[in-house]
Amino acid sequence: MTKIYDTVELRGKVAEPCVMVIFGAAGDLTKRLLLPSICNLGSNGLLPPNFTIIGFARNEYNQETFRAYIEENVKQFVTEPKALQYGLELAKRVDYAIGTFDDPKPYEQLKQLLEKVAKANNLKSNYLFYLATPPTLFSKIIDQLGVAGLVEEENKNWRRVIIEKPFGHDLDSAKLLNTDITRVLTEKQIYRIDHYLGKETVQNLLAFRFANGIFEPIWNRRYIDHVQITVAESLGVEARGSYYDSAGALRDMIPNHIFQLLSYIGMEPPISLDANAIRDEKAKVLRAIREISPEDVLSCCIRGQYGAGIINGAPVPGYRSEKVVAPGSATETYVAMKLMIDNWRWDGIPFYIRTGKRMPTRLTEIAIQFKKSPSIMFQKTQNAPLNPNLLVIHVQPEEGISLRFGAKVPGPIVRIGDVNMKFQYNDYFGARPGTGYETLLYDCMMGDGTLFQRDDMVISGWRVVEPILDVWSALAPRQFPNYDSGTWGPKEADELMTRDGRKWRNSF
Ligand code: BG6
Repeated sequence: MTKIYDTVELRGKVAEPCVMVIFGAAGDLTKRLLLPSICNLGSNGLLPPNFTIIGFARNEYNQETFRAYIEENVKQFVTEPKALQYGLELAKRVDYAIGTFDDPKPYEQLKQLLEKVAKANNLKSNYLFYLATPPTLFSKIIDQLGVAGLVEEENKNWRRVIIEKPFGHDLDSAKLLNTDITRVLTEKQIYRIDHYLGKETVQNLLAFRFANGIFEPIWNRRYIDHVQITVAESLGVEARGSYYDSAGALRDMIPNHIFQLLSYIGMEPPISLDANAIRDEKAKVLRAIREISPEDVLSCCIRGQYGAGIINGAPVPGYRSEKVVAPGSATETYVAMKLMIDNWRWDGIPFYIRTGKRMPTRLTEIAIQFKKSPSIMFQKTQNAPLNPNLLVIHVQPEEGISLRFGAKVPGPIVRIGDVNMKFQYNDYFGARPGTGYETLLYDCMMGDGTLFQRDDMVISGWRVVEPILDVWSALAPRQFPNYDSGTWGPKEADELMTRDGRKWRNSF
């Protein structure tokens, strides 16, 4: 099919002059995602001339060795020629500040360095601080930024802070973190990142629902039977065992990524595309998720941990044999649950969500199953009852939307078979540059918080999962590992559906 739109480039106004400081600049996130995104933005002309980065970390770099480090990583992780070129130029400008995160001294030096770098590159005193560090350091760094006077916005200069996930470890720690950071920053200066919001397919949910007239009238309890959200990964914990073993699948994926998907599906139309108009509606849905009682945790929330198995034809070890994972670990690598949204639109309609590592394939999708139409007319010719319509939003790796409906199978007898109508991004828009972080970094530079989590959204997310964390920490899992790598999770997750007369999509 001919692409209707040529390759979609990143387009927009050039971001305001600013310097970006990356805390934890020597880590994985910087080289794999932040640098490539910056290079994509830069090569598309979206960064101000002479835009630059200052790395801040404990590692023994100086200006020269840090420039070499950036150059090496640009060469390794940036492939598109224009972006690579941009990255190599950028590597000649970057700077470095060394220091421990809770010591005030290096922040004084950082302040002087920022002033010097901003002046030399004509970048005004707009500073973007990116916290790509372990979460235990978030409050400490923000405190020190405050002490050094680095976050005061004077003379129309802005100071913004991007905070990586996880935002808190549970409800109390998230509240505490909010309290700590709002002592130093205003809510407008805080950008809590959730990289799912940088994905085009996720952003498209808003367009799909509200830029089309035909879906909204049927987007409610009268026509929808249930919603399934799946975020499956075939990877295991890789090198992240030490973080993951204390987090688990619930904390890692549910209150953030999956609730973002859920809130776009469940929200009411916002009154405008303003950041707060959209976030108000998303926050309302999250607030409306029914609190899960301890009894419901036992019956409606399923946890699993992968054992050894086969992925893509090759044997892989079980979770407990992964690096830096405790041999008897009780951490879940799979979660499935049924949630109810207590509002007018969704009353009585279950949202089934699940996520897991070491599943047969990488797949993120949202399936909206509609109510069946009466089969009466077709009873005599049809052996089985008619299947319901199914709208699937494919988030990744396939990007598109498909609608399943019944059609007459050609022949003398009236027989209904399922067929699919399918839209694929690639057919219309071609390949899109990017990691997803481009939009988020750019939006922050432009002062647009739409795609970032507001404090109340984060708290609502934790409020929902808190009872599950409580019950699960009080009751050790009995049968871990309870699913083999390369399968769709524990059998209890299937039972959760069959009890309600439903099935996960992989069992269709
Ligand atoms: C991260 C989680 O936030 O998201 C990881 O910490 C997970 O455990 C990742 O693998 C999934 O992101 P994506 O974009 O690959 O779906």
